[in-house]
Amino acid sequence: MTSRSAERLLPSRRSADAPYRIAVVCLGNICRSPMAEVVLTEKIRRASLATRATVVSAGTGDWHVGNPMDRRAAAALTANGYDASNHRATQFDSAWFEECDLILAMDESNLSDLTSLGAASVSERLRMFRDFDPRVHDASAPVGDRDVPDPYYGGDDGFDTVLAMVERTAAAIVLALQAEAAQS
Ligand code: 4NP
Repeated sequence: MTSRSAERLLPSRRSADAPYRIAVVCLGNICRSPMAEVVLTEKIRRASLATRATVVSAGTGDWHVGNPMDRRAAAALTANGYDASNHRATQFDSAWFEECDLILAMDESNLSDLTSLGAASVSERLRMFRDFDPRVHDASAPVGDRDVPDPYYGGDDGFDTVLAMVERTAAAIVLALQAEAAQS
């Protein structure tokens, strides 16, 4: 079997000079997408791309709006050197379909919810977060499963699993941003 190629980014919707806007979206915006926002933002900063790319996160649901990150998500981030203290949960706003260059769903259910919110016009910019996970592109990887599993009802180890997926996927997104920046 041949290896599937890594994902590329579409150009910015605005101009080459405008920061590339990425949104990460899960269900509650207290576990997976805030972890992805914090890790991706930090990797963008370390790559000196902070003026070129910004990250926001949201949940499709409204149950936790205004709340900080789940304490287990925050603990996993803090134990690995990230600052989880600034997060407050937000609900996804359909205006983001027009405002963001890339909208990344953490699982198939989130993708389906986003699609039903009217994403048809931006479908090529609406992707699965793990479309960028290099492991998904390994020739030996099982085809099909691109979910970041929801850790909310599980144990602490689920948050470590999410963090590992998020870290390697965020690193690949930064590589894609660097490739995009080199072309502009
Ligand atoms: P998240 O996890 O979508 O990764 O933030 C969840 C958080 C809360 C709930 C479900 C998933 N909830 O049902 O309240």
